[in-house]
Amino acid sequence: MLNGIEGVSTASGSVNTAMYVVYGISIGVFVLVIGIMFYFAYKYSSKRYPRNKIKNIEHNTPLEIVWTVIPLFLVMIMFYYGFSSLKALRTIPKNNMEIQVTGQMWFWKHKYPNGKVTKDLYVPVGKNIKLDLTAPKNDVIHSYYVPAFRFKQDVVPGYTYHAWFNATKKGAYDIECAEYCGLGHSSMLAKVYVLSQKDFDEWYNSDRKTPFSKESASDENPGLALIKSNGCTSCHTLDGSPLVGPSFKGLWGRSEKVKIDGVLKDVVVDEKYLKESILNPNADIVEGFNAGMMSSYKGKLSDKDIGNIIEYFKNPNAKKKEDVKAKATEILESNGCLGCHSTDGSPLVGPSYKGIFGRKVKVKIDGTLKEVVSDASYLRESILDPNAKVVDGFSAGMMSSYKGKLSDKDIDILIAYFKGL
Ligand code: CUA
Repeated sequence: MLNGIEGVSTASGSVNTAMYVVYGISIGVFVLVIGIMFYFAYKYSSKRYPRNKIKNIEHNTPLEIVWTVIPLFLVMIMFYYGFSSLKALRTIPKNNMEIQVTGQMWFWKHKYPNGKVTKDLYVPVGKNIKLDLTAPKNDVIHSYYVPAFRFKQDVVPGYTYHAWFNATKKGAYDIECAEYCGLGHSSMLAKVYVLSQKDFDEWYNSDRKTPFSKESASDENPGLALIKSNGCTSCHTLDGSPLVGPSFKGLWGRSEKVKIDGVLKDVVVDEKYLKESILNPNADIVEGFNAGMMSSYKGKLSDKDIGNIIEYFKNPNAKKKEDVKAKATEILESNGCLGCHSTDGSPLVGPSYKGIFGRKVKVKIDGTLKEVVSDASYLRESILDPNAKVVDGFSAGMMSSYKGKLSDKDIDILIAYFKGL
């Protein structure tokens, strides 16, 4: 918790200096005032100083000038150091990596330039990191505070704020929400992990969810991934203990007492109830919990997302998707694809699958050569309508359509497999 207490960003030095200057001056003034007070209390005590010796002094110009000018200097000194540290915190270097931060009840979401999303923040050491901070319009005020980097930024819903830092030391430091934002305020405690450039790059260019997990994003149960990335676990545990809302453990099929229009009713948790609770959370509140704690996920989650989440509730132990490679290999083998396409880069009747995803290919469209990117939609088309865009150097008419032979799901699995090949 005290990790980074010395200040581990390039701007923290000037903030520390400002703090010590103000602190030093305050101690000086404190000692001086209290010292003089004790001295006078002793010297002018009525035991030692008879009342009739007291003179009524009304004015002393030199003394008044001294106690005006000296404090003025002290205040100017404090201003100088305070302002220069503010400048260090506010001058955002041009050359930076920009990360989008969203503060929501009750979690932080960090989105990186390549689309990765994490709850904690991961950054390389010694790089300028610019944060664009915001909160959704139907949310409340949060405040993004990283004591180790000496900066704090309030986040008012609907506005975007900027902050930056350049971390000087590897390690894990606290991110706190410094604005009391309701029941789950304390769940907003997160971490910023400062990694070596190598560790960061390795993770950033991989499919792994965090630099510390071996699990790749596509391995995780998609419903569970959505639950985590939307911050649901800030209020709903996965282990059975109640938090702000009921736990997700054993949710599917259990019977809950629910207040509907003020009357308690027994309800079995099924698809319809779950969907309603996500889209209209305050309609049916489970007994023992409060309304108004959760806002609707309408517009935030698609029907497909909700379907995935419900799938997860139905079968929470289906931790991973089917092994893509095994499944894809089975599809390729049983459909004879490997007779014409190799997986090792050598061209056969058709192009090799190795590196096929994302590469640029010259294709013949209506007789003219064009460059296209071999992305998901191109690959899908090439499976369903193989003679529409034939790669330069290969011949049309060699492959027939797999329409009706491969399901959409099969094609998804193949594309997922191609991505990693
Ligand atoms: Cu967000 Cu406190």
